[in-house]
Amino acid sequence: MTDHILVERQGAIQIIRMNRPDKKNALTRAMYATMSAALAEGDADPAVRVHVFLGVPGAFSSGNDLADFMVIATGGEGGTEVWDFLMALAKVEKPIVSGVDGIAVGIGTTINLHCDLTFATPRTVFRTPFVDLGLVPEAGSSLLAPRILGQQGAFALLGLGEGLSAERAKAAGLIYEVVEEGALEAAVLEAAGQIAAKPPQALKIARDLMRGSREDLVARIGVESEHFRERLKSDEARAALTAFMMRKKAG
Ligand code: COA
Repeated sequence: MTDHILVERQGAIQIIRMNRPDKKNALTRAMYATMSAALAEGDADPAVRVHVFLGVPGAFSSGNDLADFMVIATGGEGGTEVWDFLMALAKVEKPIVSGVDGIAVGIGTTINLHCDLTFATPRTVFRTPFVDLGLVPEAGSSLLAPRILGQQGAFALLGLGEGLSAERAKAAGLIYEVVEEGALEAAVLEAAGQIAAKPPQALKIARDLMRGSREDLVARIGVESEHFRERLKSDEARAALTAFMMRKKAG
């Protein structure tokens, strides 16, 4: 458990809020574990009909905590928390709505590929600098992004690490709606409320049909993760992570 993730219920809506503003919601192992547990508990509880992911003003998430990556890059233990979270996301049984404001880097972007509806504010930029960090796409994004964005849009996002504004993300079909900062959470909760009011069994079948088999997704996350773990120990990744840590010290 960590108080960097706040889990609350509003009726049938379970809200999972990333809440580590001083680090722009960089995700630690403990945060992943708490989010996985919340997804599992919400899925198992008939009183919950929909999950919601939120961040803090200006930061949905700056991605995996790079200090945790550095631990692995220098021979330390990485744990299973990230893997467990990715499996929880890929297999979640109930719809997910996300509300994104501002920073959405790495997993802060790729979480949304698993969401059923994403709302984002105009100042949001989606960015996945995996390759710049000497790493590879994760969370099934190498499979899901080309489906949504086409090969070239996916290459720009995942290969070039190009930032995607909320407007462009909406035009590309990556997100559902762009809403002003002050209206974000209300819009998310309204959509979640609509979902919660639907007949749950019919909605589950409809969602399962639209998602199709999860085997390919789970298999792809497995292959990505193997590469990712290898890449973390590469000279390319160590150099990029060291540069981030040095920038921190210099700043
Ligand atoms: N891991 C660990 N710490 C992070 C972090 C991350 N992913 N992202 C931000 N932080 C920390 C910063 O080091 C800083 O800590 P400090 O105050 O102790 O120095 C704090 O959060 C605020 O970040 P800062 O860089 O000052 O904010 P910013 O608004 O200028 O920039 C980002 C925000 C997200 C653009 C920038 O921090 C960044 O590029 N972070 C790395 C993102 C990343 O590569 N994620 C992994 C993707 S796989």
